[in-house]
Amino acid sequence: MVVRDADRPEAGVIRLRVPLGERSYDVLVGAGARDELAGLLPPTARRAAVVTQEPVGVKIDTGREQAVFLVPDGEEAKSLSVVEDLCRRFAGFGLTRDDVVVGVGGGVVTDLAGFAASVYLRGVAVAHVATTLLAQVDAAIGGKTGVNLPEGKNLVGTFWQPVAVICDTESLASLPPRQLASGRGEMAKYEFLGVSGLGSLPIEEAVAACVACKVAVVGADERETSGRRALLNYGHTLAHALETAGCYDILHGEAVAVGLVFAARLARRLELIDDARVRLHEQVVSGFDLGYSLPPGSSAKELITIMGRDKKAVAGLTFVLDGPHGLCLTPGVDPNVVGQVLAEMGAR
Ligand SMILES: NC(=O)c1ccc[n+]([C@@H]2O[C@H](COP(=O)([O-])OP(=O)(O)OC[C@H]3O[C@@H](n4cnc5c(N)ncnc54)[C@H](O)[C@@H]3O)[C@@H](O)[C@H]2O)c1
Repeated sequence: MVVRDADRPEAGVIRLRVPLGERSYDVLVGAGARDELAGLLPPTARRAAVVTQEPVGVKIDTGREQAVFLVPDGEEAKSLSVVEDLCRRFAGFGLTRDDVVVGVGGGVVTDLAGFAASVYLRGVAVAHVATTLLAQVDAAIGGKTGVNLPEGKNLVGTFWQPVAVICDTESLASLPPRQLASGRGEMAKYEFLGVSGLGSLPIEEAVAACVACKVAVVGADERETSGRRALLNYGHTLAHALETAGCYDILHGEAVAVGLVFAARLARRLELIDDARVRLHEQVVSGFDLGYSLPPGSSAKELITIMGRDKKAVAGLTFVLDGPHGLCLTPGVDPNVVGQVLAEMGAR
C-alpha cells in the first residue's frame, strides 16, 4: 500500500512497508527522504559502515560513529575480491554484530554492501540509500544480494533483507542521462507486471508505484520458491547474457529493454501472444526513450550458451514469457527457436 508519510506530509515522503514478519521494513520515497535515515537504523547500532562510490556524492547522516568505505565503480566491482576487501575494512573499523552497514549508491553498491553485510560476522544489519533510478525502482528492494563470476552475472549471492531503504528522488538530479535511461529500462518492465502509465506520473509517484509492485511480489514470494518472484526477471534472461557477453559495455536497464522486446518476439514465435502484443512491448520500450536492437556483432550461439547458465535455467533454456494468462515462467524452450528470434533481431 502506498501511503503518504503521516509524520512528514510536508516533505511529500511516501512510506511503503515490505511485509515480511519480523523482518518487515519500510521503504521511504521522495525528495529529502534521506533525512529520515538515522531514525530507521537499529537503535543498538553504535557504528555505521557507509559503503559508497566516488561518483555518488550523496551525503548522509547516520547519527552514529560513521566511516566511509569507497568501492570501485562499475559492474566489475561486484566481485568476491571486493567483498573480501570490504569485510577486512569493516573488521579494521571494529564493526560488530550490533552495528550497521549502509549502502549509498546504485545497484552495484546495494548488491555489494548487502552481500558483504550478509556474510560479515555471519550477518549484520544493512540499510540502503538508493541513489540511481534503477536501484530505487528495483535493486535496493527485496533483499537479493550478489556478485558476479567470470562465468556469469550474480552467480554468487544471498537473500539478506535490509532494515530500511531510502529512495531520495533528489539524488537523481546528479545522475548521468545514460544512467537515468537505464533506470527507465527497469521501469518499462513494470508496465508488464500491472503498473501502467508510469511515464506520465511525477517521479516520486512513479518510483513509489514500482516499489509497491516489487514489495507485493517480494511479500508473497520472498525466496523465489513459488515462481512469482521470478516474474520480476521479465526480460532479464537475455539482458544478463548481453551484459556478460558484452563485458558490461551495455548498461543493465538498456539490456532489459532489449530483453523485453526479445521475450515478446519469442512468445510470439511460440504462439503465446499476437503481433499487437509484440508491438505494445516495442511501443512501451520506445516510450521510455530506449532502443531494442541487439548490440552489433552479438553472437546467437554465445548468448544461448550464457542463457543456459542463468539461475532460472533448471530444465533447458528458461524464460519469463508473456501469454494468454499473463507472465509465466517457461522452462524447456527450444534453443533453435531462441536462435531464430535472435537472428531475426540481427544476431550472427
Ligand atoms: N538485487 C537486485 O534485486 C537487483 C535488481 C536489479 C538490478 N540489480 C543490479 O544493479 C546493478 C545496476 O545498478 P545501477 O544501474 O544502479 O548501476 P550502478 O550501481 O553501476 O550505478 C551507475 C553509476 O552511477 C553512479 N551514481 C550512483 N548514484 C549517483 C548519483 N546520485 N549521482 C551521480 N552518479 C551516481 C555510480 O557510481 C555508477 O557510476 C547491476 O549490477 C544489477 O545486477 C540488482
